[in-house]
Amino acid sequence: MFGNHRTDVKSVDAESLAGLGLDGQFAVADTHTKDFVRLPRGSIVLQAGEAAKSWENLRDILEKMLEIDLTRGSWLSGIGGGVVCDISAAAASLYMRGLNLRLVPSSLVAMVDAALGGKTGVNFGGYKNIVGTFYPAHELLICSSLLTSLPEREYMSGLAEAIKTALLGDPELLTTMEDRSQDVASRDPELLEDIVWRCLEVKGGIVERDLTETGERAYLNLGHTFGHALEAVAGLGRWSHGEAVAWGLARAMELGVSLKITDPAYASRVIALLEQYRYDTERQPELTSRILAAMKKDKKRRGSGVRFVLQETLGSTQVVEVDDDQVIQVLGG
Ligand SMILES: NC(=O)c1ccc[n+]([C@@H]2O[C@H](COP(=O)([O-])OP(=O)(O)OC[C@H]3O[C@@H](n4cnc5c(N)ncnc54)[C@H](O)[C@@H]3O)[C@@H](O)[C@H]2O)c1
Repeated sequence: MFGNHRTDVKSVDAESLAGLGLDGQFAVADTHTKDFVRLPRGSIVLQAGEAAKSWENLRDILEKMLEIDLTRGSWLSGIGGGVVCDISAAAASLYMRGLNLRLVPSSLVAMVDAALGGKTGVNFGGYKNIVGTFYPAHELLICSSLLTSLPEREYMSGLAEAIKTALLGDPELLTTMEDRSQDVASRDPELLEDIVWRCLEVKGGIVERDLTETGERAYLNLGHTFGHALEAVAGLGRWSHGEAVAWGLARAMELGVSLKITDPAYASRVIALLEQYRYDTERQPELTSRILAAMKKDKKRRGSGVRFVLQETLGSTQVVEVDDDQVIQVLGG
């Protein structure tokens, strides 16, 4: 149960998805995901990419909803990656103060993260996700076979979030990732289904206990304080979000060890797993001062030092404010 309504999560195969009866309903997709369902007339197809998560597109979607006379009882379906899920959910939450929302996540990031948990949003004024609401989907349809067409870099981006989710609460998933890396790399459909459901279980538990991020939900930012900063300073496209998160997970492990919070054997295990999947975990010392400056600007920051999500070990997580000199040490001087 999230807030005032439940998210009903179901598995569907690609065929059932293609045959989904959306007539008389409304849908949003992007140029790469528009053929996964039979889109109802009047649907909106966004140009694929992060730039689509804009205020202007949100307004266009709302205008279309008004034009086709959607009511509070109508359904809006968002079919796509995190971009489509976030903007569709934002529109669904705003129109008439909320209509029925179905999300069909099609990227691994969206399946294991963006589509569950109720965070909606668009980018605005140069800031990512700065305008948004909490509005969990009423229905979430998981079709892991959609992942076969996902570009490799996007897939690896989602996998970093899946590894992070395992660290937060699923020891078996971590072992699976270690033992079956070949099957993960070849996108074995049964295995992917299992990974996605396990991640939804972990994330679902966290957001059910803390929908609006007053406490535990912040743990989902494990690796992200470092990762966001690296993404911001390294130059557009140099690191994908997931690559930066994987790098950030390695830094969070090292920071935890240096503060005597993290079990060194656990940290080594996590870094070895990231390297097994060929994520770049090397320090980037030439970027240290810029990374630190970027972290200080992060909107999630409170207090004088920067706050980090750190772990003692798998499933034992805390938020710690850390002095700059200790962070600089871990970033490599
Ligand atoms: N709401 C949340 O809790 C939450 C959590 C994590 C991320 N996000 C947001 O999600 C966004 C990132 O999500 P993303 O990585 O899915 O990006 P995305 O939606 O841009 O998708 C990545 C690319 O993959 C394409 N794609 C998606 N599914 C495909 C498929 N099955 N086959 C082929 N191509 C496919 C898309 O068209 C796009 O080009 C960011 O805006 C981020 O802020 C939100």
